[in-house]
Amino acid sequence: MNTKFAKIFEPITFPNGVTLDSRFAMGPMVIVGSEKGGAIGQDDLTYWHRHNNSASLLITGATAVSEYSDAYGNGLGLYKDDQVEGWKELAKVMKAEGNRAVVQLFHAGYRSSFTYKDKGVAYSASTKTYSFLDYPVTGLTEAQIEEVLNDFAAAAKRAIDAGFDGVEIHGANRYLIHQFFSVVSNERTDKWGGSLENRARFALEVVKRVKAVIKEHAKPDFLLGYRISPEEIHRHGDGFTFDEALYLIDEVATLGVDYINTSQSGPRSFAATPKAGNYQGQAINKVIKERLAGRALLLGAGDLTSPDKILEAVTDYVDVAATATMVLLDPDTKEKIYQGREDEVTLEVKEDRLADLCLPKLFYSIAPLIVTSQFVPQITKDLLYKKPE
Ligand SMILES: Cc1cc2nc3c(=O)[nH]c(=O)nc-3n(C[C@H](O)[C@H](O)[C@H](O)COP(=O)(O)O)c2cc1C
Repeated sequence: MNTKFAKIFEPITFPNGVTLDSRFAMGPMVIVGSEKGGAIGQDDLTYWHRHNNSASLLITGATAVSEYSDAYGNGLGLYKDDQVEGWKELAKVMKAEGNRAVVQLFHAGYRSSFTYKDKGVAYSASTKTYSFLDYPVTGLTEAQIEEVLNDFAAAAKRAIDAGFDGVEIHGANRYLIHQFFSVVSNERTDKWGGSLENRARFALEVVKRVKAVIKEHAKPDFLLGYRISPEEIHRHGDGFTFDEALYLIDEVATLGVDYINTSQSGPRSFAATPKAGNYQGQAINKVIKERLAGRALLLGAGDLTSPDKILEAVTDYVDVAATATMVLLDPDTKEKIYQGREDEVTLEVKEDRLADLCLPKLFYSIAPLIVTSQFVPQITKDLLYKKPE
């Protein structure tokens, strides 16, 4: 190894005592390899067999906790007991090289476009229409909120039963938990909306329910993570500031999680600064890390698209790098850096390398939506966007 990269391979320990042997995590990525309805598919297993040594901590793509959370058609689901058998297989495949495997749990809320197609309804915090959606959105009743909270708890229990090492609650990327926190999507006037405390209530209640299940059913080394978008300041409206997200992070850390995972995108977004609020000019990840003060580790993503950026991230901004696009397109990134072959790490995918990535046959259908990094070469994008024959 080039000693310059030694920091990436320094072990690090979560508050619950679990130690990773590197600062490399594989960030959550939807790959649409599952059966319709969310059961683990052969494509999921094949993909993870190829990617199971990409990082010391491997996080699955967003996994539906409810049948009303279908955002991708062939995404992962863990909302029925009969899905657990397939997840046991996936756990075995993901853990085969000795790395830790975590399930990212989500409810897609208003982004459940496939649920709308199937069932004629897509739920969110409030009833509303959006210019960017071609279907209406229905606000959850109090009783339905209780059901969704139970869904998160039940899915966490299934992840434990399937043999996973942890769960990550997906509170980011404009899915349901995020929708409750944002004033753009949460217009409720009951205890679940309005003040900052009320908008944070749903997120915190999910954490509490999942923690209760872990306490009762999992071993002490089971990991709990929480993913958050640090701010929502964009063209569809200002849903929450970084200052408000920091409040939520603080509350989540006080309840007790092993890590916070920040979701940011765009060039050098791992080092991004807030667009508004009290911390302008300071790096979001640095402020969060300071606020956590060791209560939880900080994972971060966002343009970790070269060995140097990964090194910079773990040196200056986060505890663990949650690399996504890089390890999707070069599953050997970590091994190459470890072996001093960092020059061979590549985002370029040509026809001859595509099969080796073991991407699901439907991957092309989501690739244009999410492979946005400007550092991904056009030749790679052209290939990934193409429907396989
Ligand atoms: C194909 C793909 C699928 C993704 N799916 C998810 C997901 O299921 N859950 C999530 O929290 N983020 C998801 N993301 C976002 C990544 O985890 C990550 O935050 C983002 O890509 C920025 O990191 P990067 O520049 O290293 O790719 C996805 C990204 C990609 C490229």
